Amino acid sequence: MTQVIREREAFRAACDEARAAGRKVGLVPTMGALHEGHLSLVREARRRADFVALTIFVNPLQFAAHEDLSKYPRTFEADVEACEKEGVDVIFAPEPGAMYPAGFQTHVEVEQLTLPLEGEFRPTHFRGVTTVVTKLFNLAGPCVAIFGRKDFQQAAVLHRMAEDLDMPVEVVKAPTVREPDGLALSSRNRYLSAEDRARALSISRGLRAAWDAFHAGERDPSRLRELVLAEVEREMDSIDYVRVVHEASLTEDPTDASPLVALVAARISGTRLIDNCVFETDARP
Ligand code: PAF
Repeated sequence: MTQVIREREAFRAACDEARAAGRKVGLVPTMGALHEGHLSLVREARRRADFVALTIFVNPLQFAAHEDLSKYPRTFEADVEACEKEGVDVIFAPEPGAMYPAGFQTHVEVEQLTLPLEGEFRPTHFRGVTTVVTKLFNLAGPCVAIFGRKDFQQAAVLHRMAEDLDMPVEVVKAPTVREPDGLALSSRNRYLSAEDRARALSISRGLRAAWDAFHAGERDPSRLRELVLAEVEREMDSIDYVRVVHEASLTEDPTDASPLVALVAARISGTRLIDNCVFETDARP
């Protein structure tokens, strides 16, 4: 039976109690509207821990005023049911007022890694993410926390934050889950009409073309980028970015020898989709 907790102190107590009983805590932070991608994170947490805590909180701090906070999908009852089926021990689902009471004024920021890509188009986004995740880490206590690689830059930023601030949290990055036709799972996919969904496949098609070229020997980042861009610009309404950068710095810095990753953010009928692929290590998209 999954326990639903709304209060911060009760969540802290549940995690402390689990640890006191010798159980390792696995944390899966989410904004709800759970899909198979989130459930794969729960399964990863279960493999690595004995007590799985999933958080559901649509964090106002990471949405800019013009973004889709009020429209973000909320499917709480279905989420609880999915967690029950997966054997999640605890859901922590606080109200915004419980996370950010009157007088709240402290934020956590990661510097360089947040500047490119999402940082150029959503300049306040990561500050909201790192602040809320710090709060969740502080409440959960020592744990292993699982984040999806679909939000590639987010996972990198949170890994950096935990390292830099000596947080007692092991940040694990879990692979992107795709539909059989390649579409990366996302809570925002439910906004897509059948026609939009078909057009959105241009993103995974572009990543696949570049993945194929990489595995046939292509190593020129600009050539790999062109292959992704050619597909994406044909179908999507607008593009925030299509980039091929090094995984460690998230820049084109030639002194960064880490693997190349292609990252895409583009819109279709007002829905913003992101996706990525590390050519060397990811499965063919
Ligand atoms: O990836 C998400 O769902 C959110 O950004 C997170 C990590 C739960 C923080 O609100």
